[in-house]
Amino acid sequence: MQLNWMPELYNRSLMRMTSFTDEEMLNLIDLAAQLKARRAAGIRGDLLHRKNIALIFEKSSTRTRNSSIIAARDEGGGAEYLTRPDIHFGKKESVKDTARVLGRIYDGILFRGFAQETCEELAKWSGVPVWNGLTDDYHPTQILADLLTIRETFGNLNDCTVAYVGDGRNNVANSLMMGCAKAGVNYVCCSPESLWPDPAKLAEARAVAQRNGVDVKVFADPHEGVKGANVLYTDVWVSMGEEAKTAERIKLLRPYQINMQLMRDTGNLGGKLMFLHCLPAFHDYNTEVTKECGPLEVTDDVFESDYSKVFDESENRMHTIKALFVSALCNRAAL
Ligand code: CP
Ligand code: NVA
Repeated sequence: MQLNWMPELYNRSLMRMTSFTDEEMLNLIDLAAQLKARRAAGIRGDLLHRKNIALIFEKSSTRTRNSSIIAARDEGGGAEYLTRPDIHFGKKESVKDTARVLGRIYDGILFRGFAQETCEELAKWSGVPVWNGLTDDYHPTQILADLLTIRETFGNLNDCTVAYVGDGRNNVANSLMMGCAKAGVNYVCCSPESLWPDPAKLAEARAVAQRNGVDVKVFADPHEGVKGANVLYTDVWVSMGEEAKTAERIKLLRPYQINMQLMRDTGNLGGKLMFLHCLPAFHDYNTEVTKECGPLEVTDDVFESDYSKVFDESENRMHTIKALFVSALCNRAAL
């Protein structure tokens, strides 16, 4: 099975959606689809033979951590999971020094943590590709998987509107807004005004969207905002690191819950419509957080419905992360 990707992706880091050109981003998604088909055909290749990837995690993770480990292993490489208590990172050793040490040992670094600056410092000083596996500001690897899922479900990314409902200025929303603009997908943010996207990020996304002939809109009224949407997307109301704001956020965002009425408000029930969520999701009573208060950002009937593609989306985290590793670390010219 022949794989194709742009040679320009070699040795490249991913800090945010704008780290790649629109064409490069779409090419990465295409490579992920090829890698997914290849794996489904039972092929575990050697594209990352003896390549080693450091996974520095300051925050918890199920999908990003496991996707990274298996993506590397599937193609003959390895990944080492490093948390703050495991290494001296930022405590007894500066980020800059840690970057220079790990860059001598590893072929690439995937970082999940708090400050975007830490991710950028790692990229600046390690000398190897660094991938942002979520910071307070961005979650670009997530959006590659989201776009792949939309492409698979609808057949392409044409004539599509994504409505994101919830905390419109969190890491996922920031990256989704720019990812949609770059992919030529209309983006609608439905949030209370206090959680509208940062004006600079909004202006940046609008400029990209305009170039690609699509819109970026912001609504306070979710019922109005979702009209005509093909994808309803949400994320937790309280991101990692913001736990102190839990009560306030639940109160503020209750009217922004994705339920069947909101799905109906799109006008696309029975037509071109899906539900996405980066996960983990509070959709039932089966978590420590929701055992008392019940579902938060999405109801169980939507989460469990045929509209919901959240587990395809989740699986696609692995294929898209694999595409990032392969394109950055495997020199096509030397194959
Ligand atoms: N969506 C996502 O990043 O999930 P994890 O926090 O489990 O990695
Ligand atoms: N916005 C969420 C995303 C989790 C994948 C968080 O940062 O916790």
